[in-house]
Amino acid sequence: SKKITKICCIGAGYVGGPTMAVIAQKCPDIKVTVVDINSRRIAAWNDEDVDKIPVYEPGLSEVVAEARGRNLFFSTEVDKAIDEAEMIFISVNTPTKTYGKGKGMAADLKYIELCARQIARVAKDDKIVVEKSTLPVRTAGALKSILQNTGNGVRFDILSNPEFLAEGTAVQDLLAPDRVLIGGDSEESIRALADVYANWVPEKNILTTNVWSSELSKLTANAFLAQRVSSINALSELCEKTGADVNEVARAIGTDSRIGPKFLKASVGFGGSCFQKDILNLVYIAKSYGLNEVADYWEQVVLMNDHQKHRFADNIITTLYNTVSGKKIAFLGWAFKKDTNDTRESAAIHVADYLLNEQAEIVVYDPKVTEEQIYADLDYLNTRDEKENRKLVTVVNDPYKAMKEAHAVAVLTEWDEFRAYDWQRVYDTMLKPSFVFDGRAVLDREQLTDMGFEVYTIGVGR
Ligand code: NAD
Ligand code: UDX
Repeated sequence: SKKITKICCIGAGYVGGPTMAVIAQKCPDIKVTVVDINSRRIAAWNDEDVDKIPVYEPGLSEVVAEARGRNLFFSTEVDKAIDEAEMIFISVNTPTKTYGKGKGMAADLKYIELCARQIARVAKDDKIVVEKSTLPVRTAGALKSILQNTGNGVRFDILSNPEFLAEGTAVQDLLAPDRVLIGGDSEESIRALADVYANWVPEKNILTTNVWSSELSKLTANAFLAQRVSSINALSELCEKTGADVNEVARAIGTDSRIGPKFLKASVGFGGSCFQKDILNLVYIAKSYGLNEVADYWEQVVLMNDHQKHRFADNIITTLYNTVSGKKIAFLGWAFKKDTNDTRESAAIHVADYLLNEQAEIVVYDPKVTEEQIYADLDYLNTRDEKENRKLVTVVNDPYKAMKEAHAVAVLTEWDEFRAYDWQRVYDTMLKPSFVFDGRAVLDREQLTDMGFEVYTIGVGR
């Protein structure tokens, strides 16, 4: 099969950046160029100080430091990179539509289509185009028809190669993936892409399917994973009412090898850029085929998640004697999970919004998220004006400062450092009674209770 020597990736985000960095590290003979229209992002990827790259992932700056300038390049020259490459990954964002038909449900494919048209315009020789973005099933058909009607005699093969990395463990997931999935029609092109991965992934972990199965498998995987979280979260509420402990229930059921122990951690709700978007997309697709029962079944996973975020906030208000107006509430964590600086769809945003509607004063501490990002997340909701958000919310870089003189502490992200704090010191500086709302079940409940805290832990009944 064709040996690939030059790869271009369109989109230098949370997927394109880490994925291409690892390909470049593992395939020193392939020149990998990652392009983006966002010049600020590209400049950050090129920052001399590798700790300033725009995506925080454990181990990523080391990989970038090794490959960057050798065979890994970040650039805004999209046309040039397309022209040079034999294989082009499309890794642009596919957010939920915010307008028009399918608003709030369907994936917005405008960035994908723009990429296809740009490739069609620029390409002078045959290209393998790889869908790395998560796309609705049958998108490859649309790409094909855009690419094939250029009349310039260039042959395009389209492959689906969805990415299964999770943020916070991206490098580890890329280095040792459970599987790499490649869907396509052309055996030769599938082989060319499989050969790239075979530089470090065992052949048995490289699965090939038809293109539609590959596209649909990505939505399915995320739907199943999110469903497990919503399932355990649904039970967490019942545990709180009955005196059961959801962590014990999870351990008990997780030892059944058919169920398995992973992804059974009750939480304040799942976040991240993928789960909600991909399930809503699945629901929209099912509806578009008239499969209403299928659509309703999956939509419930998202509805349960919304409920979980609301009931967490609601419980804070009820516990604080039905009013949080003017009360200082310290947020530990803003990212949607630990070990990432990504905040997209983070439960913290929605819990904060709910409490701000009750006129709470929120002080946020997160080890990796910037103040600018936190305000941007709140402003994006459009619930109140920007001035009000800055008046009610303060961002600090010292957790003890965040919790000083607070009525309550709410844990929104499971960062490891939260466990290690000097909780006696925190207790001494907080208002009394000192409430802790542990939305991630990470703190030592017994120890904190002994110190005098009033502790609520998600999924733990009293
Ligand atoms: P992202 O928003 O971090 O990055 C996308 C980048 O594409 C942005 O920097 C944007 O400027 C750029 N872009 C958009 N249109 C462009 C164009 N026409 N030309 C050049 N650049 C353009 O998004 P992400 O989190 O990396 O996700 C990308 C895709 O991967 C999505 O489809 C997502 O569903 C999927 N995915 C994400 C994850 C994850 O954990 N984030 C995991 C698996 C799959
Ligand atoms: C997810 C998929 O795991 C990954 O395969 C896909 O490529 C992209 O979407 P990501 O969103 O980065 O990855 O992180 P993930 O670890 O799946 O966590 C998603 C959300 O679920 C987080 O908010 C996390 O805190 C929450 N979660 C996860 C739980 O609340 N409980 C769990 O047991 C697991």
